[in-house]
Amino acid sequence: MKPRILVTREVFDETLEFLGQHCEVESNQPDVAFDSEILARKLADRDGVMCALTDRIDGKLLEGCPKLKAVANIAVGYNNIDLAACTARGIMATNTPGVLDDSTADLAWALMLGAARRITELERRVRGGEWKGWRLKQWLGIDVHHATLGIFGMGRIGQAIARRAAGFEMKVLYHNRKRSAPDVERRCNAAYATKEDLLRQSDFVVLQVPYSPETHHLIGARELKLMKPTAILVNSTRGGVVDDAALIAALKDGTLRAAGLDVFENEPGLNPGFLQLDNVVLMPHIGSSTEATRRAMAMTAAKNLVAALTGGTPPNLLNPDAVGNRR
Ligand code: GLV
Repeated sequence: MKPRILVTREVFDETLEFLGQHCEVESNQPDVAFDSEILARKLADRDGVMCALTDRIDGKLLEGCPKLKAVANIAVGYNNIDLAACTARGIMATNTPGVLDDSTADLAWALMLGAARRITELERRVRGGEWKGWRLKQWLGIDVHHATLGIFGMGRIGQAIARRAAGFEMKVLYHNRKRSAPDVERRCNAAYATKEDLLRQSDFVVLQVPYSPETHHLIGARELKLMKPTAILVNSTRGGVVDDAALIAALKDGTLRAAGLDVFENEPGLNPGFLQLDNVVLMPHIGSSTEATRRAMAMTAAKNLVAALTGGTPPNLLNPDAVGNRR
């Protein structure tokens, strides 16, 4: 008998076709997000689930899923999954690293350039009929080229962001829990800095750390005050890494020049304070959202799930210890 799986959100046809070759699939092509009650009901007798960062997979949910063997997230970040709860129950959890690095790095750069040159603000002004002609001091931005870029989180995506800085002849600083290997620093042309030095020296601060209790409000009022008043903050990783209320206050009172944000606390219900500000570029969590990358992410998750449910080791297994705990 084929394993029975639930796919919690709409996916591409080829993903469903591949899953269907190996599993009995309940899909959700209408893409109406399941609330926790519906998700619990639908998962109660399933062997596996392919889910998204909008689904909370926690101990309470898993309690009611005695048959569940695998959870495949269609995302590289997996803060929506209680990994310890999965491991304790012998449930394999997987993510989709690698395939989205370049697209997500591109979006971080779009946010940097967009905030520096006021792209979305000025487009709004053009559309609103405010452009009456050329003026020397018109809607001045700041330069990206030759500026200092500071990156928090020098994983694959952080490195891809750093490598792009070479074309802009930028100085690159980074901060990580652990200093990167010398060859990574060389390839990225990046120098290690303490958190405080990075904040004080950078013209652009880009956040690429995963969200966890340790990185909750990594950037709050204290950190924003350490930054240059001319600096730009970019968050392309997860809401909660920045204290949004503190950021809004800093953008309002001139502590910080501008920000570019793809992620927010309490998505999609972002703090209405952002909507009053011209000096912030707001994007709806689309860091990895290109046609090719989202297709690759969905297929990566599908392959992880099928491997886990057919006796293999999923290529992107997050909790190898789960294997020994299998019921
Ligand atoms: C997207 O935010 C991801 O973690 O893949």
